[in-house]
Amino acid sequence: MCGIAGYIGKKKASGLLLSSIRNLEYRGYDSIGMATISEGGIRLSKGKGKVSEVDSSLAFSELPGTIGIAHTRWATHGEPSEKNAHPHLSQSGKTAIVHNGIIENYLELKETLRGSAFKSETDSEVVAHLLEKNYSGSLKDALLKTVQQLQGTYAICAIRPDSKEIAVARNGSPLAIGLGNGENFIGSDISAFVEHTKKVVYLDDFQLASVKENSVELFEGNGNPVAPEPKTINWDVEKAQKQGYKHFMLKEIHEQPQVVRDSLSIPIPELEKPRKIFIVACGTAGYAGLTGKYILERYARTQVEVAYASEFRYSDPVIGPEDLLIAISQSGETADTLAALRLAKQKGAKTLGIINVQESTIARESDSVIYTRAGPEIGVASTKAFISQLVVLYRVAEKLSGTRIPLSPIPGKIQEILSQGEKIREVAKKYFKVYNFLYIGRNFNFPIALEGALKLKEISYIHAEGYASGEMKHGPIALVCDEVPTVSIAPKDAVYPKIVSNMQEVRARNGDVIAVATEGDSSISSHATDVLYIPETEETLYPLLSVVPLQLFAYHVADLRDCDVDKPRNLAKSVTVE
Ligand code: G6P
Repeated sequence: MCGIAGYIGKKKASGLLLSSIRNLEYRGYDSIGMATISEGGIRLSKGKGKVSEVDSSLAFSELPGTIGIAHTRWATHGEPSEKNAHPHLSQSGKTAIVHNGIIENYLELKETLRGSAFKSETDSEVVAHLLEKNYSGSLKDALLKTVQQLQGTYAICAIRPDSKEIAVARNGSPLAIGLGNGENFIGSDISAFVEHTKKVVYLDDFQLASVKENSVELFEGNGNPVAPEPKTINWDVEKAQKQGYKHFMLKEIHEQPQVVRDSLSIPIPELEKPRKIFIVACGTAGYAGLTGKYILERYARTQVEVAYASEFRYSDPVIGPEDLLIAISQSGETADTLAALRLAKQKGAKTLGIINVQESTIARESDSVIYTRAGPEIGVASTKAFISQLVVLYRVAEKLSGTRIPLSPIPGKIQEILSQGEKIREVAKKYFKVYNFLYIGRNFNFPIALEGALKLKEISYIHAEGYASGEMKHGPIALVCDEVPTVSIAPKDAVYPKIVSNMQEVRARNGDVIAVATEGDSSISSHATDVLYIPETEETLYPLLSVVPLQLFAYHVADLRDCDVDKPRNLAKSVTVE
């Protein structure tokens, strides 16, 4: 949440920083800002809106100087506005900072800074004023003193005109330094600078660094120096481009056959069967986890409990050394998932991360990690990462059970669904003005009903609820009428007759039904208004197919409603605050 970037070198910083915050924009996009050092002073530009909107009026790349910091914001304290946008300046205007995270004790700290005039409603501005107060010749030392006064989470970059360095610090919000030749880069993640360097130093919690043109000095929270350990990252820059698609989300949906193919060769570590498996995750990764419960219990016959990471961490869970906690996360940075992982470790459980972003915090803190091979996912609404998480869960089930699951035909079957894009858009045209949707599914397809509804609400802002179809009669059916369509996932599996009965109940109350059904099921059309077909597969593998038409349906509905598909309002891809 919030993207921060920095550059120090010989090139003009503003152009590079502009491209960095464009690449980080998926982390938040309600306001944007940049500060550079030029002619002994700080030059600052900031405004409300997305990068392209603000840049068209402020022309960021005109800011002079070869040292600078930039920020793309997802508001926590204070509404999105120019004054609340980062960077923030100290009273004298000599210190500029960008911050990602939440300073929990900012009100108390403000009390100690009575002489400073605060210009924003943010928690972050306090850092600029504290730095000014603590400065006595070394920006890094001032930052060290400052972070010792902070409670909460932060990734901070700070600059001053009288200091040829960018001072950075991290606790709980990610921060990476890209090592260049005679230049160095800073980013919330590597997408900020990966086109310039793949050599990266990741800061751990409580570490600080002084980043200069030709050096990076790293320090522990007590000020002791520590040797940086640069890592070389594998990242295909090309894959982070739209490649002719109208939106990243559409491109990412279309990449899924290849993602599944790539996921089939991921090495799965040896795993001992635990007493119990706990899966923690948030959002779409959480629904992958819920599908994982059905998969792992069916194949591995191990008890699985799935929890929202945000609930698990406060629930005093009964978990111990004989248990395995699986944390699923695309970004590997989600604050609640990370906290849940740490809690499980504290209680002695073994931990396994299923993570997409290499070297992310959850990946580094898990006992073992399986990297999904979805590649960079830019659209805020997760699609290909979900498919890759599912494939890994099937593969973990294979490992734990010694069974072979026939996954290899899946990419071809997804391809067949993708070729029906036009048909799905035609169905979307019938429904895109509707205000409410229900999604129902049973057994393996219940989590897919939840995921389908989530996709639709995230990107089209239509209210959509997912239910286990057996629950329809216990409440949701009261909503059914000719204005509330129901999407029903009804492949030919063991629970098919049950879900068909639920569809009839909806039809009997004048509700439209959009069915996701198995190819060749001609009788389904007598229970549905519209049918989206998927190829036949084993009943346990239907989630890998049934989710695809729902992703495309949500995409087309949102596109027809002219929504910003890749950057839906109020959301951010990487949620690093609780
Ligand atoms: C945010 C994103 C979702 C994502 C969730 C979990 O809410 O908008 O698309 O599913 O975070 O993210 P993670 O990176 O942990 O998978």
